[in-house]
Amino acid sequence: MKVKKWIALGLVLVLAIGIAAGCAQKASDDSATTDSAAKPKIGISMPTQSLQRWNQDGSNMKSAFEAAGYDVDLQYAGDNDIPTQISNIENMISGNCGVLVIAAIDGGSLTEVLKTAKDANIPVIAYDRLIMNSDAVKYYATFDNTKVGNLQGTFIKDALKLDSEKGPFNIELFTGDPADNNVNFFWGGAMDILQPFIDSGVLVVPSGQTTKDQCATPSWSTEESQKRMENLISSNKYGPDGTKLDAVLSSNDSVANGITNALVTAGYTDKDFPILTGQDCDKTSVQNMLAGTQSMSVFKDTRTLADRVVKMVTSIVTGTEPEINDTETYDNGTGVIPTYLEDPQVVVKDDIQSVLIDSGYYQPADVGL
Ligand code: GAL
Repeated sequence: MKVKKWIALGLVLVLAIGIAAGCAQKASDDSATTDSAAKPKIGISMPTQSLQRWNQDGSNMKSAFEAAGYDVDLQYAGDNDIPTQISNIENMISGNCGVLVIAAIDGGSLTEVLKTAKDANIPVIAYDRLIMNSDAVKYYATFDNTKVGNLQGTFIKDALKLDSEKGPFNIELFTGDPADNNVNFFWGGAMDILQPFIDSGVLVVPSGQTTKDQCATPSWSTEESQKRMENLISSNKYGPDGTKLDAVLSSNDSVANGITNALVTAGYTDKDFPILTGQDCDKTSVQNMLAGTQSMSVFKDTRTLADRVVKMVTSIVTGTEPEINDTETYDNGTGVIPTYLEDPQVVVKDDIQSVLIDSGYYQPADVGL
């Protein structure tokens, strides 16, 4: 009798545990369903793998989204290949991505493909570069692009003491790819500071190449900027023993690297190197700053921008308004796109340790320290 009682009790217990486990399993299945329904797959389209910053942006975003519980489809468009970017985006749409985050190669080339996104109710976030002529673009996350240009122009102004010196100082001007909408702001921001000194004759551009188009660098290519700088050196006889060259404005690091290569070949050393600006704190440029062959770079912490985009997407997904701090500057042709601008920061040689190494952005060995 006693034995039977224990067996019966045991059976009841086994049953109870089984039901409890089943419920728990069901509950977790339910929450998985709700969770993945609430957390759409994120399509991330990056322009190129041949430039350090976009690799960092891509991998930072992938890990930030995954840490927040999202699935991610990250794709690179070869080396700035527009048709590849379009087909990457088509694949993301047909592959059930619920949100697209896109850094456009050419801001004006995605209008057609993004109509499909709009029809499928897929919100698009323009990442770093504004996407033009598409009302699928709901938000824009970037660094303050005008400020990037202002910081570069101001650096040159301060280094040459343009407010107090009469000069004339010789300068050459370089910006990036004309299809990148950011170029308007980098160039505009720098020229806001420098143009008055060109107008007053304190700054002189010996080549006479002073328009944005004349100073553009296709695909932000190091080879292209090197070629143009070599041509400027030979046509204006720049050199440590030739025509004096006081400064070169460069909108970013990949362009600055070509300028550095050409100037080093022309015989300039850290002792007499012209002032040279940049942007991104790419590893090569950090090494050039340490070597005295680039004066500054503008640091845009790609980790910050990645986290910003994850916050934006979380707001969209939970039906709340993402935090934005600019509702005026970025009109993409369909209206002003609500934007969050992160803050860029000047880095010179002496800041490398505190800003780039101590923050864990780079390991000392990454930049030859
Ligand atoms: C810009 C970007 C810069 C730089 C450049 C070249 O749009 O804001 O950080 O990387 O493209 O890729």
